Parts: sequence; structure tokens; C-alpha cells
Amino acid sequence: MNHKKALSNHIFQIIGQCADELQIDAYVIGGFVRDYFLNRGTAKDIDIVAVGSGIELAQKVASKLEGKPQISVFKNFGTAMIKHGDLELEFVGARKESYHRDSRKPVVEDGTLEDDQKRRDFTINALALSINKSSFGALLDPFNGLKDLDNKLIRTPLEPSITYSDDPLRMMRAIRFATQLDFVIQPESLHAITENKERIKIISNERIVDELHKILLSKTPSIGFSLLHKTGLLDIILPELTALQGIEEIEGQKHKDNFWHTLEVVDNISKNTNNLWLRWAALLHDIGKAPTKRFHKKIGWTFHGHEFVGSKMVFKLFKRLRMPLNEKMKYVQKLVMMSSRPIILSEEHVTDSAVRRLVFDAGEFVDDLMTLCEADITTKNPKKLRKYKNNFKIVREKIIEVEERDRIRNFQPPVSGEEIMETFNLKPSKEIGIIKDAIKEAILEGEIPNEYEAAKHFMIKKGKKLGLTVN
Ligand code: CTP
Repeated sequence: MNHKKALSNHIFQIIGQCADELQIDAYVIGGFVRDYFLNRGTAKDIDIVAVGSGIELAQKVASKLEGKPQISVFKNFGTAMIKHGDLELEFVGARKESYHRDSRKPVVEDGTLEDDQKRRDFTINALALSINKSSFGALLDPFNGLKDLDNKLIRTPLEPSITYSDDPLRMMRAIRFATQLDFVIQPESLHAITENKERIKIISNERIVDELHKILLSKTPSIGFSLLHKTGLLDIILPELTALQGIEEIEGQKHKDNFWHTLEVVDNISKNTNNLWLRWAALLHDIGKAPTKRFHKKIGWTFHGHEFVGSKMVFKLFKRLRMPLNEKMKYVQKLVMMSSRPIILSEEHVTDSAVRRLVFDAGEFVDDLMTLCEADITTKNPKKLRKYKNNFKIVREKIIEVEERDRIRNFQPPVSGEEIMETFNLKPSKEIGIIKDAIKEAILEGEIPNEYEAAKHFMIKKGKKLGLTVN
């Protein structure tokens, strides 16, 4: 069967014509072809493999394209990249490759198309469509990738342990594709990942995190995290998470398995947000529970201070994985730190002042915090579920109410320090702090509204109580 339809973009004819002029065979391969057959829309990253020099082909293509596009040549790798509109064209010469055991740097030799397909990660990524004029749109699929697409199967063209050992990042890629596409990893392949898991250590943290981001951004991230767990990779990459696994029982008292609970929370939140960092917060919200777990005869299992400990662990984890130590990390830390607050609220009678304090402390993140806490409800008890959901609804309504009345989210004191100094003829002193704090507390407690006149009146009353006289 011919697949010209996949190549409807005029660029493929131009590349094919250049290849014909150079008398070499050229193919589009990899993600573009896979996504076409999966009806995932047309990818913007296009990989072209030339049986000959990929760089020469790229140079010829660039010279024919309108607007003289940028071309980047990587001589050492034998690759070249052209940016053309929103397309990124990556050219490479077909090659045979073998790898050194302790690095991802391959020893490269020229090869045939099939040599090149063989050295790719998965059969579904080794599908090639010819772009030379005489065979335009012909599919070359020596490893039955199309059949694997149909069967939703992740399979390596070579014996799995060779493919994974050659480039251990592929172990993460297999799990990432299984998660994104809802595919199954062939059992031999899964076994080889488990056997080779230690080799993930030669891969840079940046690349590992890249794959973790993609897994987290999938529709059902738990597919990926349970595979990472099953193969033993998670224990190497994120031991803080695997430490949460297991249920302990003492004197008939059990706690829940916080690892599987966490995965449920991540799936839940993924239905309500595409914010990567909010999903990270969901993944890490309970990591402080492993080091803080205690058993007390009278009250059973406790995890005192796990939110605080967890937020400190977020920093260490981000640092170890070379993730950004910027406002994204602070956001995750803050959400982990506050992750129990709305839950405590939802278990009790919801008061205005408690909601005002929540909004004050969470500031601009209050809505995300609510989204996290709602995802955290995984109880299978229908009565409890109803109660929590209803209380969260009340909390959300009260947040809006309190917001409209008191504008607490980005709280600015209604009376400034200077005005306090002027009113009581004070030099900088601790009384100013005491009065400012008392005003804030009175607003949060609902004794006075968050308004200038009320706050000023309160300030004078408080000052007099402290023995100060009005100027
Ligand atoms: N590839 C490989 N081994 C890797 C990375 C990539 O064999 N470790 C090959 C695969 O054939 C892949 C192609 O290079 O299809 C392009 O890789 P990349 O752009 O990283 O991924 P895509 O498959 O295009 O998919 P996505 O864009 O979703 O990452």
C-alpha cells in the first residue's frame, strides 16, 4: 500500500527531488511516521534518513527552500538541522552503530536503511516512508512496526537487552510511550528493562527528567509510574516515592499504602489540570510521610510534620535531579507544605476565619491548592466521600465570599507603618510591629473588615491599650 497522504506537505517533494539529484535514497522515519499511522496529527519534528550523506542532502534542501532557512550542521554526529517555518527537519545518514558500554557515544559506520532501522529504539519508531520520486510514499517496515501499532505493543527491533544496553534512556522512553499511547511493553522487553535498570545511571538527569515530565503530562500518569516501579527504575530515580510503598500493621492498626494512594492522586489531578508543576506537587505531596511515620499505642499511626519535612525534601530532590531551583520549585514546596490545610478544614466545621487564614497563607496559589486537595480524596467510603466533597464545595464558596469582601489573597496592610508612627509620634520600634500584627489578626479573625477606616479606628484603640497617646 502507498502512503502518499502522509507526505502531503510540499516539503517532502522538495527533499525527494534533492535526493534524486544526489542519487541517494531518502526516507522520513521515526515519530512523524508513527504519529501519522496513529492519527495523532502531523508532527512538526521530521526525521529524514539518507542512505548517503545526510549533511549534503540537508545543504541541498536548504539551498532550494524559500527564505534561506537556518541550517545547523553537526559534523561529529553526521547530522544537520533545518528550521523551516514551524517545521524542524533533522537529517542523518543511515548508519550502523555500536555503543561503548559506559557511554551513550556511538561508534558510527555508514549502513543501509535496514541497518539504520535496526538500531532504532522501537519497531513503531522504525517505520520509514520513501520520499524519492519513483517510490514516493512506499512503506518500509522490516520489523512489523505497523502490526505492533495495531496491537498497541512496544517492542524493540533487536533483542531487547541489546537495544536498552546500547542506549539506556530507551528504558524510560519505552515506559513513556506506553503511558502516552496506552500501549503494552512486550514482556521480554519489560524483563530486559528490569535486568538493565542500573544502566540508567549513565544517563544525564536532564534527559531522565524530560521523560518524567512527559509521563507526568500524560492522561494517566500512573501507568508510567507503576511501570517505573515494577522495573525497579523508580527506586533509582525517585527513591522518595518507593519509600512510601507498603502497609504496616501493629496491634491491628494499619495505615494506607501511600505510594499507590499518591498515584491515584496524580491521576485524579490530571483530570483537572495540565499544569506540570501542580502535577509534580501531587506526586510529591506525601513524600514526607516515610521519614515521619510513627506508631503510638493510643492513637495509632501518625505522620507529624510530614508536610514540612516533605517540602524540605522537595528541594533536595530537585537539586539531585538538576531540576530548576527557582519559583517553580518554591511553588511545589509551598503546595506540599500546605497540602493538609484544606483537608483539615473539610473534616471540621468550616469557619470564615479559617478560610480567610487559608487564603492569606496560600495567596495566589489557593485555587491550585484546592485542586490538589480535592484530588487527594481517595476514600472508598461513600459517606466520607460525600462529606469531604461537600465540605470542599463550602470551602470554595467561602473563598469566593471572603475574597469579594476582604481581598485577602494579595494582602496589603490597610494602615502603613509610617501612618502608625505619625499617629503616635513614634520612632521605629517594636510597638509598630505589634500594632500592624494586631490589625492583620483582627482582619483574619473577622473582627474588622479589610478597610482603611476600620483599620485606623482599630489602630488607635490598640495604641491606647499599649499606653500610647495620639499625636
Ligand atoms: N531514537 C532512538 N533512540 C533514542 C531516541 C530516538 O532510536 N534514544 C530514534 C527513534 O527512531 C525516534 C527518532 O529517533 O523515533 C526520533 O527521536 P525523538 O525525536 O526523540 O522522538 P520521537 O520518536 O520523534 O517522539 P517524541 O517527539 O514523542 O519524543
